[in-house]
Amino acid sequence: MPRVTYIHSSGERNEVEVPIGQNLMMAATGHGIEGIAGDCGGAMSCATCHVVVEEPFAALLPAPDDTEDQMLDYTAAPRQANSRLCCQIVMSDMLDGIAVRIADPQV
Ligand code: FES
Repeated sequence: MPRVTYIHSSGERNEVEVPIGQNLMMAATGHGIEGIAGDCGGAMSCATCHVVVEEPFAALLPAPDDTEDQMLDYTAAPRQANSRLCCQIVMSDMLDGIAVRIADPQV
């Protein structure tokens, strides 16, 4: 099963397995990863799933759609070049090994 590493602002890393087709917000909340709330359940209306995607995986992701792009302008932590809403990152074989830094704060 593909794996994702969540990197906390402290530097702590949590690596978890994620089924193909599951988004990284659901994977985080399902594994009790602190720092990703996912308050809206993935409806792109809360931005509490803000992460910064590490390279080389950031370049593999499709560009954010207009809604995600607009929400990324309202994140609690400043938007960065590789900022994404992890509810919109869907695990695939291609993303096996992806690492994301959890934005801090989320609200
Ligand atoms: S879970 Fe709300 S925007 Fe991602």
